Amino acid sequence: MLPRLFKTGASLEAFLRPPRRAGKRVGFVPTMGALHAGHLSLVRRARRECGAVVVSIFVNPTQFGRGEDFGRYPRTLKRDLELLAALKPDAVFAPGEAEMYPPEAATWVEVEGPLTRRLEGAFRPGHFRGVATVVAGLFLLVRPDRAYFGLKDYQQYLVVRKMVRDLHFPLKVVGCPTERERDGLALSSRNRYLDPEERRLAPLLHRSLERAGELLRREGLPVGEVLRRARAPLREGGFHIDYFSLVDPETLAGLKGPALPALAVAAVRLGRTRLIDNLLIR
Ligand code: PAF
Repeated sequence: MLPRLFKTGASLEAFLRPPRRAGKRVGFVPTMGALHAGHLSLVRRARRECGAVVVSIFVNPTQFGRGEDFGRYPRTLKRDLELLAALKPDAVFAPGEAEMYPPEAATWVEVEGPLTRRLEGAFRPGHFRGVATVVAGLFLLVRPDRAYFGLKDYQQYLVVRKMVRDLHFPLKVVGCPTERERDGLALSSRNRYLDPEERRLAPLLHRSLERAGELLRREGLPVGEVLRRARAPLREGGFHIDYFSLVDPETLAGLKGPALPALAVAAVRLGRTRLIDNLLIR
């Protein structure tokens, strides 16, 4: 059976009233649809930990910059509902744009400071403002006790966690490990943009992050040298590197010297496709 589908916050709220009254913990998995095994692992975790599970599907226009892929972002609601059916979430919330952003909406949630200026923030101005605004709106409509985010979007996880602390949202943000293809490529809805040759090359991103980790851990090389060696195969493979850095996993500040734990984090472009990935080095 397909999961129950709700298009308005009011109808979802009415549906969640009985489980809330019964004291059930509400788990929430926000997504933009085009679901893959990474999303499904978040839903499974929410299912294990919560008495009621809500998945949202909303391609959020405000987090896409000009020239980014909002127009061609895959919209596959029917298939998404079929994939979710086996996991039995209690509800799927798929609001229209006018439900999420009332006409002439003029309010933004902005997490300021280095956390949103670094890495993705430097390449996608306004991205985290769009993410924080929609996630805050979704949190207020769904009112979850726990919200589940994939750590492939590590910076997004930190930004949401900070917003939740700063604005006192009464919920716990749970970061979940990245799911990967057998060859190491992190699962992403954008992987479907890759042509066969790009798909063949794409796992080099993960391998380069691993290489950075090995060099940092085992050989104690200076950070600059680690990065130079780890980036080289990507350059040779024709990747355009937006950034490939070793950073502090809490602040995302660039490492000055070899220190652990560290986060190796990168965004690259392969043809028209932008891929991001990261690896925690302990
Ligand atoms: O990670 C995503 O898919 C999106 O950024 C999110 C959290 C659903 C907000 O639109």
